[in-house]
Amino acid sequence: MNQKIGPGRPLKGTLVPPGDKSVSHRALLLASMASDPCVIKGLADGEDVETTANCLRVLGASFEVSHQSRGRKDLRAGGISWQLSPAENLLQAENSGTTMRLLAGALAGVPQRFTIDGDASLRSRPMERVAEPLRLMGADVSTEAGKAPITVAGGDLSGIHYELPVASAQVKGAILLAALQAEGRTTVDELLPSRDHTERLLSWLGVDVTWGPTTVSIEETFDGLPLPAFDLTVPGDFSSAAYALVAAAILEGSELSIDLVGTNFSRTGLIDILREMGAAIVIDQQLEDPEPLGSIYVRPRKLQATIVSGEVIPRAIDELPLIAVAATQAEGTTVIRDAAELRTKESDRVAVLSKGLRAMGAEVEEFTDGLAVSGPVALRGAVVDSAGDHRIAMAFAVAGLLAGEEVEIEGWEGTRISYPSFLDDISELMQ
Ligand code: S3P
Repeated sequence: MNQKIGPGRPLKGTLVPPGDKSVSHRALLLASMASDPCVIKGLADGEDVETTANCLRVLGASFEVSHQSRGRKDLRAGGISWQLSPAENLLQAENSGTTMRLLAGALAGVPQRFTIDGDASLRSRPMERVAEPLRLMGADVSTEAGKAPITVAGGDLSGIHYELPVASAQVKGAILLAALQAEGRTTVDELLPSRDHTERLLSWLGVDVTWGPTTVSIEETFDGLPLPAFDLTVPGDFSSAAYALVAAAILEGSELSIDLVGTNFSRTGLIDILREMGAAIVIDQQLEDPEPLGSIYVRPRKLQATIVSGEVIPRAIDELPLIAVAATQAEGTTVIRDAAELRTKESDRVAVLSKGLRAMGAEVEEFTDGLAVSGPVALRGAVVDSAGDHRIAMAFAVAGLLAGEEVEIEGWEGTRISYPSFLDDISELMQ
């Protein structure tokens, strides 16, 4: 499906973004491990989160939606007796790496064999990174030449001390979900800090977990399962809000507030990068437990190029395509390095982004671990292929708003993965 996006008008008013996708996956999984039904409010309404719900349904969970508004669902979640035989042992993770990897961890302690498969995109993504630590804990896990489908035959698990070769909250989360079912303590160290939602939620639920920026330890909770039932409100998704944020930081005359949005430091690297580029952004943090939440205000300014590398990369991993788009309008050459992970996402984001931005007239140099974008340039109309990757499609849409002519984006259906109401939200802000 193709979508045309014309030159944008200033973004004005208030955006309440959809529920956070990362927190939503985890909320569903943890609810499925709870003793009694849980209430989850503001769950993300995209296809990825529905995929996690569908896999958990196969395992015996029930989800009853009580209220639905744009981007958010309130529901009652009935847990799983993890000892029972499910109806099927094939779980379909579709396009969702988070579903596949977190579920592999949750199943590692269940003494049955499950296969988790995915679509063509997910089947091309690395899965040994999650298989290896789960094997070290005692599960029997196999992949097909390192990729999906992944088969997990769970068993008695023991805690491990594991250093992640690449910062990944999905792999860290999988190990922590397995550790809930393991004997002894588990520690995960990372070279750089990745998002900390799993550890925050577990700590909020009373699990004995301690963490710092690059390390997390969980004590034996053998008797701690099932988890206590909970009532959680999911914060708005910073990664979804990021599209309007970047457009408003550039489009002259914009004045945007973003409300009820997650402001977790492990997710907001984009703000640090944009401020470094000269953007005017204010964060008003309001609530901290279990997730920081607040409002963000942004006004346009002339941007300068910057260098993006190191510690900020995992904190901005899903927003790096947007930085590349912003860089087309900044003075000088913006360089993004240490970001080889971008090539292992729903698409090879370095390649797909470079090709599309070049077609719009941008000056882009590609590296194995990132890209350089020089600006400012007047972006022009073009037909660009998002490769069905939701974040690339919406990053191209922002480029379309900044362009002088209409941009046509192929593979637009991908946006249903994380932000089905993207166009409605953006067009309301441009009225
Ligand atoms: C996610 C972690 C990130 C991110 C993905 C969601 C999560 O992946 O890119 O969109 O919810 O844990 P990695 O942790 O593999 O980098």
